[in-house]
Amino acid sequence: TSTNASSGDLALTILAALSKAETLSSSTDFPNTKSSDLKAALDRLGSRSMVSYKQIDQEIPVLESEGELIAEHGSHEARVFEVVRQALEGLSIADLEKTIGDKSVTKLGQGKAFKEKWISKGKDGRLVASVESITDWTREHLKTIQTTHTCPDTKVLAELKKRKLVRLQKDISFSIEKGPKFALEITKEETDLTDEMLSTGSWRTALFKPYNFNALGADQHTGALHPLMKVRQEFRHIFFELGFEEMATDRFVESGFWNFDALFVPQSHPARDLQDTFFISDPKQAGKPHAEDENDKKDYDTYWENVRAIHEQGKFGSIGYRYNWQKEESLRLVLRTHTTAVSTAMLHKLAATRGPDGRPPPARYFSIDRVFRNETVDATHLAEFHQVEGVIADYNLTLGGLMDFMTVFFEKMGIYDLRFKPAYNPYTEPSMEIFSFHKGLNKLVEIGNSGMFRPEMLEAMSLPSDMKVYGWGLSLERPTMIKYEISNIRELLGHKVDLNFIERNPAVRLDKN
Ligand code: PHE
Repeated sequence: TSTNASSGDLALTILAALSKAETLSSSTDFPNTKSSDLKAALDRLGSRSMVSYKQIDQEIPVLESEGELIAEHGSHEARVFEVVRQALEGLSIADLEKTIGDKSVTKLGQGKAFKEKWISKGKDGRLVASVESITDWTREHLKTIQTTHTCPDTKVLAELKKRKLVRLQKDISFSIEKGPKFALEITKEETDLTDEMLSTGSWRTALFKPYNFNALGADQHTGALHPLMKVRQEFRHIFFELGFEEMATDRFVESGFWNFDALFVPQSHPARDLQDTFFISDPKQAGKPHAEDENDKKDYDTYWENVRAIHEQGKFGSIGYRYNWQKEESLRLVLRTHTTAVSTAMLHKLAATRGPDGRPPPARYFSIDRVFRNETVDATHLAEFHQVEGVIADYNLTLGGLMDFMTVFFEKMGIYDLRFKPAYNPYTEPSMEIFSFHKGLNKLVEIGNSGMFRPEMLEAMSLPSDMKVYGWGLSLERPTMIKYEISNIRELLGHKVDLNFIERNPAVRLDKN
């Protein structure tokens, strides 16, 4: 291209000039060449070690437009002196002004000429020259600056700057010397090894361009984790640190049995209404809970019977709800409304497991995945969200232990000073909502729900009665929105999400803010 050709020409010009001088200074040797062109040519020569150069960044004085005028016509005071000198009889101020033709030049020039003692007032009040001749230093200095862009006398420079005749301008120049491979011609460097070079053998003598390992790579557009997934990753680390095992949460559709009945949620409970739950119309019914494969030796029939009994007439010391429990209701298919359905299935599995002492071993499980609720959609709610859920099963656990564990768990996220409020869940007793003080909102905000699973739920699945289970849940969206400072959930999920926002956002640390 033409720019390449001209930068090639410039490179050759530089080489030619260097052959006649030890050092070149671009400001004197190439005063009219753009510094970016010079740099391109010098880099080209520099990469071949044909020249070495230093870049000099400095500020140089240049004339303002008034400075240009003075450099051409002389200073105001010099012009006043000249007019007065030529009037042999002296001059009235009015005449001076008329001759010069500029009021402010006359006024300023007169004052300065008086100060310099170049003119004085005669007896009749007329202006007369006090000296034979003068040197117009202002003009001389400006002319020097105009041609050399230097001003050796810093006091003079400061004065000229103050009078707005001169300003400083950024300037890039180069000091250039011969390099170890200096030559007058630029030999062509190969950038590719071609099959022709191989077949003719010319590769043996070809000059290859060295790799530039300092070149920046091209910006790669890679995939990016969604902020929710980044925060999920943080939660997973916390759980793993605390010895939890992750539950499989790939079953979005559950039967009413696993989502509600097994959790001792009565069939008339408002949560099971169309209001909150999305029911599946096709297929119409789920099958009864059954073994997943031939390795699954769990007793589903007893479990099913126990759940029916605990609702209908009570069992294991509980009087139950005493209503007519419907099998059909239990076999309705729903989009799971909470991941506690998954925890329930895992606890049922635990009940069939035997530790070294012949009893179900203590266990810690967690899950983080989607749940669905038929809720009014607003700035902070969607019909689906992610639940972070944990369960701890162990012998003789107490409520104090749950509060203690919650403190440890939330501390890992940088949340301190928890408050616990008694609450109600059909499947836990006691139940506690967990609050923490939010500095930004200046109030206590709910951050989670928790409790100890009821014996009606645990004993129905044949867990020993002294094995107690803590459970707690929170949304993944709330901490994510707080961390990424998002106020509308639609910025985080759905068709309005700005993909640049997703890509740009850094990873977060829950414990750092
Ligand atoms: N399932 C509860 C919810 O939807 C959370 C929870 C889980 C509460 C386990 C207690 C025990 O909020």
